[in-house]
Amino acid sequence: MATQKIQIFDTTLRDGEQVPGCKLNQQEKLIIARQLEALGVDVIEAGFPVSSPGDFAAVAAIAAQTREATVCGLTRAVENDIRVAAEALRGARRPRIHTGIGTSDLHVQQKLRTTREDVVQRAIAAVKLAKSFVEDVEFYAEDAGRTDNEFLARVCEAAIAAGATVLNIPDTTGYCLPHEYGAKIKYLYENVKGIHRAILSTHCHNDLGLATANSIAGVSNGARQIECTINGVGERAGNTALEEVVMILRQHADLNLTTGINTRLLAETSAMVSHLMSMPVQANKAIVGANAFAHSSGIHQDGVIKCRETYEIIDPKEVGVADSSIVLTARSGRAALAYRLQKLGYDLERPALNTAYASFLQMADSQREVFDNDLHILIEQEKLVVVG
Ligand code: KIV
Ligand code: ZN
Repeated sequence: MATQKIQIFDTTLRDGEQVPGCKLNQQEKLIIARQLEALGVDVIEAGFPVSSPGDFAAVAAIAAQTREATVCGLTRAVENDIRVAAEALRGARRPRIHTGIGTSDLHVQQKLRTTREDVVQRAIAAVKLAKSFVEDVEFYAEDAGRTDNEFLARVCEAAIAAGATVLNIPDTTGYCLPHEYGAKIKYLYENVKGIHRAILSTHCHNDLGLATANSIAGVSNGARQIECTINGVGERAGNTALEEVVMILRQHADLNLTTGINTRLLAETSAMVSHLMSMPVQANKAIVGANAFAHSSGIHQDGVIKCRETYEIIDPKEVGVADSSIVLTARSGRAALAYRLQKLGYDLERPALNTAYASFLQMADSQREVFDNDLHILIEQEKLVVVG
């Protein structure tokens, strides 16, 4: 089977920036947009232009700066939102308007206080209006995760007939299980008339920690675009993390799916977004966390020193991390201590290593981590003889 390309739609600057305390100024948004383009994302969702004059100006500035990626602006299915987004995107080489409306019964009845039929009509009108400004129109069915599949298919069909080129199927509340979300995408792929004229997109939130798994289930069942953010930032528990889905597709060649992402820029991009948003990355975060390539237990350290692949499925260099690290703690063994001492230029015979290890354990029991400087002091204090 030929390998197919998955479009990476980054919404760090829109869904990601909705997080309290993560607000970025225009200059910061331009820096991140430039980095996203260098990273190789296909689409940059730059903001929600009608939401504030500042967001409008940022979307316009990103549209003017971006050369290769599509620049997208979010709207509701509201005439003024769409006109304002079209204006903000005027300078873009590849503009996309992303418009949509809630489709679950909860959204239709409780939020919009209307009927399913009215939702279909509003969706058609919004897509048609957006299409009068730009060729590339993405339609989102908000809360698609909890929308009845038959009705969802009907809305999608109407959106395609009105000119939508991408159909976004958001699991807005992060409710779906991976097999359900995958089945939903498959159902749409098999039942929506005209689906060959558009692509299906995943947009998964992480309320149950399933955003990445759901996105992968989506592309395994026919979706061809993943919406995601750097470090998984986003509303509540966040969105699908870009670095996770990209590395899953790379590590699992059997899926026959690929992306255009330059993975060697992942660590640097993660650090940039974390710094500019003042949003720390948890140490055990997959791919970009400080501990993602750090080994601290003796058994693992011994394995990694002998052969990195025993405890690592990714070469850290592939994601822009210089090397794996061996962290010296009270759980470390002689092999790790000897390895680190050797790196520092101390080659010890077995008896000297045993002495060093005993005093290392005492030190490690009284502090969280033993650093290189501590080891220099230890060798000095124990007056250990170094070979070679
Ligand atoms: O989560 C969601 O449903 C969204 C839409 C506005 C695309 O972010
Ligand atoms: Zn969202």
